[in-house]
Amino acid sequence: MITVRNLSKSFGARTLWEDLDLTVEAGRMLALVGASGSGKTTLLNCLGLLERPSGGRILFEGTDVTRLGPRGRRRFRRDELGYLFQDYALIEDATVRANLAVARRRGSPDDESVLGRVGLAGRAQEKVHRLSGGERQRVALARLLVKQPSLVLADEPTGALDSGNGAMVVDVLRELSREGRAVVIATHNARVRDACDSAFDVSARRTPATS
Ligand SMILES: Nc1ncnc2c1ncn2[C@@H]1O[C@H](COP(=O)(O)OP(=O)(O)OP(=O)(O)O)[C@@H](O)[C@H]1O
Ligand SMILES: [Mg+2]
Repeated sequence: MITVRNLSKSFGARTLWEDLDLTVEAGRMLALVGASGSGKTTLLNCLGLLERPSGGRILFEGTDVTRLGPRGRRRFRRDELGYLFQDYALIEDATVRANLAVARRRGSPDDESVLGRVGLAGRAQEKVHRLSGGERQRVALARLLVKQPSLVLADEPTGALDSGNGAMVVDVLRELSREGRAVVIATHNARVRDACDSAFDVSARRTPATS
């Protein structure tokens, strides 16, 4: 599904990582681990075409997506990509239903079935800002279930949750992978890492500083 070849990222003189190679197949879950500041979020942002790598290629089903123009990047994000964040990134002032509507496209499952899958049956009319953190992350997961992206990028999706809600998030991401999506999760949580098929340590790809 997605293959990264020789990827590097520098900010000024500082290299976060270089010669980074990894592949995530459809149906697999990869954990991105590494010290704070090692560049996990930056790598997710490169995979999601929100940031440009300094060098290397990102092949999505054989196409180098780093070479796409603005329209191609927008289309990739719209059609292929689902994002999940620690802070949920929902429209706080809108209802659950309205938050799901932004992800809806032809063939999406209906709201009640996805809300049932994340334990929020019957809650479509509630305003997001009235929900608890765990419930908000369930809405974000329901939005992924509506969108059915082929690549799911999750940035510390359990970081603000208790262990029960964290396990629920991992379970739904696993379901998405079983349905054939590729899932990449940046995490500091050992349980989340162990629930993935493999782990990739981003800090191990840093070049030692030279003086
Ligand atoms: N636009 C930018 N300009 C300069 N430096 C940046 C920029 N974006 C990120 N960085 C730096 O890159 C480094 C990696 O940041 P990143 O957020 O990817 O780390 P992370 O591994 O996700 O950390 P954490 O585990 O704390 O979330 C940080 O030192 C950060 O300050
Ligand atoms: Mg981060």
